[in-house]
Amino acid sequence: MKKWLLYSVFFIIFGLMTVTFFNPSEIYELTQKTAQFIPYQEIPEGLVSLKAKDCGVCHTEIYREWKTSLHAKAYTDPFFTAYHKKDDGDPTCLVCHTPLENQSPIILSSESGQYNDLKSTINPDFDAELQQEGVTCASCHVKDGVIYGSYKKKDMNAPHPVAYADEFFSKSLCQRCHEVPSKSFALMNEGICSTGMESNRGVWAARGYICQDCHMPVVNRPLMSGFPSREGKKHLWPGGYSNRQLQNVFTFKAKKELDHLAITITNSGAGHKAPTGDPDRFIVLDFIWLDKMAQETVLESIEFKRTIIWQPVMFVWSDNRLSPGESTVIKTKLPENDGTLVVNGTYHVMTDRSLNRLKDKFELKDEWPIHRSFLKNQKVPVE
Ligand code: HEC
Ligand code: HEC
Ligand code: HEC
Ligand code: HEC
Ligand code: HEC
Repeated sequence: MKKWLLYSVFFIIFGLMTVTFFNPSEIYELTQKTAQFIPYQEIPEGLVSLKAKDCGVCHTEIYREWKTSLHAKAYTDPFFTAYHKKDDGDPTCLVCHTPLENQSPIILSSESGQYNDLKSTINPDFDAELQQEGVTCASCHVKDGVIYGSYKKKDMNAPHPVAYADEFFSKSLCQRCHEVPSKSFALMNEGICSTGMESNRGVWAARGYICQDCHMPVVNRPLMSGFPSREGKKHLWPGGYSNRQLQNVFTFKAKKELDHLAITITNSGAGHKAPTGDPDRFIVLDFIWLDKMAQETVLESIEFKRTIIWQPVMFVWSDNRLSPGESTVIKTKLPENDGTLVVNGTYHVMTDRSLNRLKDKFELKDEWPIHRSFLKNQKVPVE
């Protein structure tokens, strides 16, 4: 290698490490888009509080759905609680997990807009009950005393002020939280939890699909009992914890070649990579040959996951997840006996090692199962 090249490489690596050591815990930039609470919100006229529980007195079905969703658990989620402890209670986590200033015991501010300049002051208007509700109704619907929604026609008979906002038909509503922008020196184009960016490419984006189309299916019902039926959306947001949603992700086909079997796996159903978001998660597919004697032979296994180096410089070491519409082919020995090809799929929230570490060091308790089977002996057609 030429001497000048060696020196440049050395300086680039050294430069990156210096920047990171000065800034070890910064995981995203403090921008308008992310690390800021929604400013303090007053209770809209006609309502008793901002709490989901109180919206639920009238919007009973939506409330019941939301209550079972991860949005309702964004603050109480045992994995969040443990990881938050691990990160020394980093207040910026709460900007997405309890997004309203009303939900935060402290107010964050930064003169320079940078993380290392972050100051916090006590919040006199802190509402501890609202905090428990995580991504509560008000984080999407309330602004300056008005309840925003998706209806353009002015025929609402609501006991509270209502207005229409385009954002309900745009993925920007979701992207605010489902995207952690990357740092400029982090050796990657996309942030690590970049569901929003992943969804800008591929088949679904080309067809104009947005998050709501797959995560909030259409339903016709009254907004409150006794009111007219309207076209609205379910508030369940199924993701990696929903087997039904996971069963939508992959399609499979296989072809007998001369001396091997070529199995094609396509991400045909997720509008982003699968899994997406939280980098701990991974999906394992096991391809099994079932012969006439019901003997099972595991032919091949594949794990869709990321490996991330966090220190000293944060970068993605490997990532084999499929983008929306993308396929991969795995080749395996052609089985000798006649039989059928089946696939088993397992979704993993994290590895056992991570789980045990959270239990031992960060008081993880009452957690839910971290490994779940979502495909069991699904037949794969062989040409
Ligand atoms: C006292 C009952 C009641 C309470 C409490 C209530 N709502 Fe409503 N809301 C209604 C009714 C009634 C409508 C209009 C139904 C209709 O005309 O079809 C409505 C309409 C709406 C709409 C549609 C607005 C539009 O124009 O798109 C949204 C969104 C909404 N409410 C959200 C909320 C949220 C969030 C809360 C809690 C912060 C809440 N509501 C509390 C009764 C209530
Ligand atoms: C993560 C954001 C988000 C949260 C949290 C949320 N909503 Fe919505 N809500 C939406 C979106 C998006 C729509 C519009 C869907 C459409 O019509 O395209 C909507 C629509 C509505 C509507 C109009 C009727 C309908 O079904 O479309 C009502 C009423 C409503 N929400 C009430 C609530 C209540 C009550 C809560 C809390 C229990 C809540 N929302 C929590 C995003 C949210
Ligand atoms: C205010 C921030 C915020 C907004 C806005 C938001 N989300 Fe979320 N969302 C979260 C958080 C935080 C979680 C994870 C909660 C937890 O800790 O378990 C989550 C969880 C989810 C999940 C479940 C993930 C899983 O692993 O199963 C889905 C799906 C989802 N959101 C979709 C949406 C969609 C679609 C929208 C837009 C309509 C949206 N979110 C808007 C913060 C947000
Ligand atoms: C074409 C349908 C489709 C679109 C569009 C879509 N998703 Fe998904 N999403 C899925 C499916 C299917 C899954 C289950 C697979 C998975 O867990 O990755 C999923 C899972 C998720 C999860 C759970 C994380 C995980 O991997 O376990 C989150 C969070 C999520 N989506 C958020 C979003 C957001 C935010 C958008 C918009 C930027 C969006 N989705 C757009 C279909 C879609
Ligand atoms: C930019 C918004 C944002 C910030 C800031 C943020 N999160 Fe999240 N977090 C999310 C969203 C959205 C999800 C759910 C979708 C997914 O799987 O990525 C999530 C999911 C999680 C989960 C997985 C929950 C589960 O049940 O699997 C954990 C743990 C978590 N976050 C911890 C943290 C911690 C700790 C911090 C602070 C260091 C933090 N988050 C900061 C948006 C954010």
